[in-house]
Amino acid sequence: MRHLSVPSAQTQHWLERCRSEKWLAEHTGVTSLRGGNKAIPLNQTAPPEGDAAWLGNALIVLAAKEKAPSHWTEHFDAELLKHHKDDLPKAYETQGDVLIVKIEESVWHLAEMIADAMLTQLPSIRLICADLGVQGDFRVRNLEPLASRDGSTETMTRIKENGYFLWVDASKVYFSARLSNERTGTLQSAKKLKQRLARPLVVADPYAGVGPSMGALLSEPSLVEGYYAGDLNPDAVELLQANLTYLGGRRKTETGEPAPALAPSSVMCADATQWKTNPRLCNSSDLLLVNLPHDSVEHLPHLLPLLRTGQTSLLRGWAIIDRANEATEKNKIESAIIEAGGTIESLEFEEVKGFSASKSFMCFEAWVVLAAESLSS
Ligand SMILES: C[S@@+](CC[C@H](N)C(=O)[O-])C[C@H]1O[C@@H](n2cnc3c(N)ncnc32)[C@H](O)[C@@H]1O
Repeated sequence: MRHLSVPSAQTQHWLERCRSEKWLAEHTGVTSLRGGNKAIPLNQTAPPEGDAAWLGNALIVLAAKEKAPSHWTEHFDAELLKHHKDDLPKAYETQGDVLIVKIEESVWHLAEMIADAMLTQLPSIRLICADLGVQGDFRVRNLEPLASRDGSTETMTRIKENGYFLWVDASKVYFSARLSNERTGTLQSAKKLKQRLARPLVVADPYAGVGPSMGALLSEPSLVEGYYAGDLNPDAVELLQANLTYLGGRRKTETGEPAPALAPSSVMCADATQWKTNPRLCNSSDLLLVNLPHDSVEHLPHLLPLLRTGQTSLLRGWAIIDRANEATEKNKIESAIIEAGGTIESLEFEEVKGFSASKSFMCFEAWVVLAAESLSS
């Protein structure tokens, strides 16, 4: 097959040129040549050697390079692939070196073959698990290991999100990488609140899971002074504690010095609706995160007493609601704040796109000032 030999630094330029002229051969790739040049494979329609289009670059003849498979299905039996094309998994989720995939009933008998093909395609994956659905109040996934690279079926693993590491375990604790943008949004809003208050913040995250939101906040120099974080799931609290110890310990100031210790730095295994019964937690926090999407709005009256009174405080939460009920749910949030003795500076209630067709996944953010009397309610 004819190839265009070009200096390595010009490879991208010539690839783009050949692609736009439709001169690029398909199903093969670029070959590295001895001496540092790269060889770009050409099809029949590309001009001959010596053509002015090549700007003096030579054409050479080389065997076509086999292109590496780019999808797990390329490692799957071709007949079975053709037969079950519509039922095979189209998507999967990875958490660190664990891959989680939903397998349709109709192709369940092929589950191990699917997993083997995925392991072959994805060298960074150690374990493939079938996702059998979410269970219990802690919304933890029922996972069935299908194939393991090293024989271990341990689902605890470490992920990197927005530059920081977190321990996760999909078989024991809820975690969704899809919400990473929401955590970035939380960070942006927290920075605005810090500016408003002209001091670092105390954050309450009573449904923290493994602590991804705290990860975003603690990674920002001098944003957080202290936190109260917790979860009702003891397995979540174990990972949360490990993550917060790690994240807290590597904090730096803007000038790169080790940051002062966080105070408070409290991790609790408790029902969030009961936090208000602890006087230390009432009137304690500048920023409150409420992430129990099926119950966030109902729980609000129990949580608002955690916010500091007599200043601007920030409530940020997430809710899954029926599409038709947007106005009603927004009213419920407003009423909860007013009944807690609050004045609302602003309330945003916006859909986070791409989660479900039937329900809305909403983010709400309220900037409030709670009157001191709200403590007594
Ligand atoms: C949707 S997850 C959110 C976790 C985490 N904030 C995140 O973004 O990954 C909700 C968490 O709330 C916890 N949970 C459920 N009911 C709770 C309660 N009454 N009090 C405290 N935590 C609760 C669950 O165990 C789960 O980890």
